[in-house]
Amino acid sequence: MFNIIPQPVSILTNSDRKGFTLHAGTIISPYSFSEDFVKFVRKNFNKKICLHEDTGEEKSIILTLDESFEYDEGYTLKCENRRVYINAKTETGLFYGLQTLKQMLLQKEGKLPYTEITDYPRFSYRGFMLDCGRYFYPVEDVKKIVDLMALHKLNVLHWHLTEDQGWRVEIKKYPLLTVKGSMRSHTNFNHKAHGGYYTQEEIKDIVAYCHERKIKVIPEYDIPGHSVAAISCYPYLSCLDRDLEVATHWGVKHDILCAGKESTYKFVYDVLDELIELFPDKIIHIGGDEAVKMRWEHCPHCQKAIKDNNLRDEDHLQMFFMAKVNDYLKEKGYSSIMWNYDKVENADTLNPDIAWDICGMGDETDLVKNELNRGRKLINTKCYPYYFDFPYGWNTLKMVCEDDGALTDNDEETWGIEAQMWTEYVPNMKRLEFLTFPRLGAMAENAWAERGYPSFSTFLHKAPTYCNLLDAYNVNYAPLKKACPSFFYKHASSLWFKRRVFHWQGLHNLIDDAKAVKEAEKIKADIIKNGKS
Ligand code: ACM
Ligand code: ZN
Repeated sequence: MFNIIPQPVSILTNSDRKGFTLHAGTIISPYSFSEDFVKFVRKNFNKKICLHEDTGEEKSIILTLDESFEYDEGYTLKCENRRVYINAKTETGLFYGLQTLKQMLLQKEGKLPYTEITDYPRFSYRGFMLDCGRYFYPVEDVKKIVDLMALHKLNVLHWHLTEDQGWRVEIKKYPLLTVKGSMRSHTNFNHKAHGGYYTQEEIKDIVAYCHERKIKVIPEYDIPGHSVAAISCYPYLSCLDRDLEVATHWGVKHDILCAGKESTYKFVYDVLDELIELFPDKIIHIGGDEAVKMRWEHCPHCQKAIKDNNLRDEDHLQMFFMAKVNDYLKEKGYSSIMWNYDKVENADTLNPDIAWDICGMGDETDLVKNELNRGRKLINTKCYPYYFDFPYGWNTLKMVCEDDGALTDNDEETWGIEAQMWTEYVPNMKRLEFLTFPRLGAMAENAWAERGYPSFSTFLHKAPTYCNLLDAYNVNYAPLKKACPSFFYKHASSLWFKRRVFHWQGLHNLIDDAKAVKEAEKIKADIIKNGKS
């Protein structure tokens, strides 16, 4: 029997009937969907297997589009009488059939028994969030992650590109964003300068690479919070025109975009115009998380906006801000996603066509119910168990396996699942891979396989085969002992992770808040004086 991750819907083998053996004359037809598959086979089997050149031999892996198949991303796969037949409604289905075939070939060393598979996904949104704001990941690293996403039948790269600690996407109209905003003078723990950004050409290259692998790319432009890198380049974006440096530490920053100045909206729309050109998948993530209101409370521009627009308070000003940005995107044929707003009672004015990532730490039953009633689309990105930057002591492999995946009893009420990789403490691929795998295998089963998969025991049963697969991709996965930690390791890793609180600059923030209030008073006095003169 096969150990495929994510588990296919149905799989049947019969050793009494003829199957398929990979050999030097194996030809795949047509070749157009299969470059990634061919690369895998050449690397892991006989390098001389040509697969795509028509050498006159009989075709042996036959891909066929079949309009009548019910599921857009599903496929059927049959190994029979020295042939493999993959049928699907779309190219995406054929691509996923080949991902399954890779795993089968590797597991059986190229010799497959008679097999029939029918397969299709549980959820249509299966994502991975990569934070390139805290640490910059070079193009080749991003492509490796994309390859691994495709192997797990994930179909959305949520690419977090703007942060307090770094701006990563070239915006031609605002060159300082990458000249200055992409560099932090030091990082939390290794105290070295760090920076980097993607040129527009590199972004296009990565988007094309994702599309070849049937992955949509949703860029995240995180506003109005998490904007210190942009403010460091263009101080007018903040409430008090503050002179700041790109952030060097994690934690929630108190200087955010001013929601009362027209100049902020102009900047945001200009950036969105360039993002729209770079990211054709019609969805942009507009952040909305951790936008504290200390500056807005004292900012004359923000207070004027509250008054002029009859808003109740600063929370409603944020809803007003997000709605304006969403409206702008809608005009261009785009929709938006946000992190869920934690003060549900204040989200009543927020247009329900903005989808939400449900990312909280606690019981979110009421929030989910409320937003479903408003007609909002929801993605399961819960901290527990889908924040894979958390140590294994916090989100064990077992917890990922045992999560139901859906946000309610009815699967149709959940758009999908997304794993999160925040990188403030993840400086390189080695660490990223250690934290992501094997948890991503369990997450992919929650997202693709039928409800109930995986159980912890079925996942453990598949683990050795899965580790072989990850070895074929040179992945630095965590060994099971670390992914399912002992009492000691659980607490030690938790303590080690918590050391970050000593870097949250709490005292600095207190002093700086007092300073900012004084700055605001001065600006207000100037406005009154100028108004009178
Ligand atoms: C988040 O964890 N900042 C969404
Ligand atoms: Zn303001």
